[in-house]
Amino acid sequence: MSPSKDIESPDGRLGVLVVGLGAVATTFIAGVASIRRGLSKPIGSVSQMQTIRLGKRTEAREPKIRNFVPLADLDQLVFGAWDPIPDDAYESASKATVLAPADLEPVADFLKAVRPMPAVFDQRYVHRLNGENVKQGANKRELAEQLRADIRRFKADNDCARLVMVWCASTEVYLKPGPAHESLDAFEKAMESNDDAIAPSMLYAYAALMEDVPFANGAPNLTVDIPALQDLARERGVPIAGKDFKTGQTLMKTIIAPGLKARMLGLRGWFSTNILGNRDGEVLDDPESFKTKEESKLSVLEHILQPDNYPELYADMYHKVRINYYPPRGDNKEGWDNLDIFGWMGYPMQIKIDFLCRDSILAAPIVLDLTLFLDLAARAGMSGIQEWLSFYFKSPMTAPDLYPEHDLFIQHMKLKNTLRHLMGEPEITHLGLDYYE
Ligand SMILES: NC(=O)c1ccc[n+]([C@@H]2O[C@H](COP(=O)([O-])OP(=O)(O)OC[C@H]3O[C@@H](n4cnc5c(N)ncnc54)[C@H](O)[C@@H]3O)[C@@H](O)[C@H]2O)c1
Repeated sequence: MSPSKDIESPDGRLGVLVVGLGAVATTFIAGVASIRRGLSKPIGSVSQMQTIRLGKRTEAREPKIRNFVPLADLDQLVFGAWDPIPDDAYESASKATVLAPADLEPVADFLKAVRPMPAVFDQRYVHRLNGENVKQGANKRELAEQLRADIRRFKADNDCARLVMVWCASTEVYLKPGPAHESLDAFEKAMESNDDAIAPSMLYAYAALMEDVPFANGAPNLTVDIPALQDLARERGVPIAGKDFKTGQTLMKTIIAPGLKARMLGLRGWFSTNILGNRDGEVLDDPESFKTKEESKLSVLEHILQPDNYPELYADMYHKVRINYYPPRGDNKEGWDNLDIFGWMGYPMQIKIDFLCRDSILAAPIVLDLTLFLDLAARAGMSGIQEWLSFYFKSPMTAPDLYPEHDLFIQHMKLKNTLRHLMGEPEITHLGLDYYE
């Protein structure tokens, strides 16, 4: 039987629960509303715009992905959120200033209706934020139960057939995996004893999984990247994905580094610096939140360039990443990269990149694709870590003992081959010798 027959239909409303109603989340929601009303195009969204080749090049079968796999339609999406800051999506988007008033006004009614539920928030995990829209509870387990009740209420009130949750909230301070994260039993006990090892993001992820809601982690926090919650996801048959949306400078890194390696060009150093002035930049100005981000950004080159396999080219590479909070730029980040590379006979060369990017504009289509693909995965009976969604993340989660695949082009092929596999189409290897027989 073809695997496609096993995918449940995407009928009914799909609730999208975003944790954090800041720049990324409001740009995503406003964009979906604008596209639905025919005012914008879903640029940057693979699920909406990209085609997929099926069969041989001579067959001329290249449907759009959204016409090939059974995805929920944008008209079926309904939005909910939590945030310690009580602003509705319109106020929050206005303050974020990612989108111009000319783009916000036509969808203002839609955005005003998205009001954040009280958050599970603790300033010890995000130092530079303060908010009064916060839940109170005797311990962390009770807070998680309150989140579960929110999820059930949202689903019933909005008549949703299914839900997906995406962490679009601030980056939490750096946490190391420890004994409290090893098993579900230890995790639940740690919630009850208010153990510091349990961050708010983990309570959202726990609540989602207990309610059978797929969960994606858009920030570099540990969150769902721990055995306790990964086991829970597998046991309950719920897909998860993470972590840290791949946008801006890291996106560029994972485009350029595989090219240098493919041509066996050496790299002596890669220095990356950024200025950004949004709330995310302010939070990342705190050294403890920056450490979480830094870990996520640094590992990318090591994995792509494989210095152990190519010591003459990459063993001595120096890699540095800096983020500086600079309010005048708002969400419009500027990232500079200097690459010291070398070629034939060791002759040095340099590459300079000056990327004037818009973080939330790059992140919003990722939130959309993850929502739709995680919902597809759930309906196809896939559970646990969805490595085929690595394409969207700076620090892709993998099975234990597997190194993450960071090369954007391998990730892209994996994503498309997974879709072909789900639909019972042969995977494409690009061998193509038979064209010449
Ligand atoms: N924009 C990008 O390109 C990009 C790329 C990768 C990762 N990210 C990550 O995505 C996240 C969102 O980025 P942003 O620019 O929208 O930031 P933002 O500061 O505009 O929004 C984050 C929101 O999360 C809220 N929040 C904080 N803790 C919360 C909690 N415990 N529960 C609920 N809400 C909480 C904050 O009040 C804020 O409104 C950040 O962690 C960022 O590092 C963004």
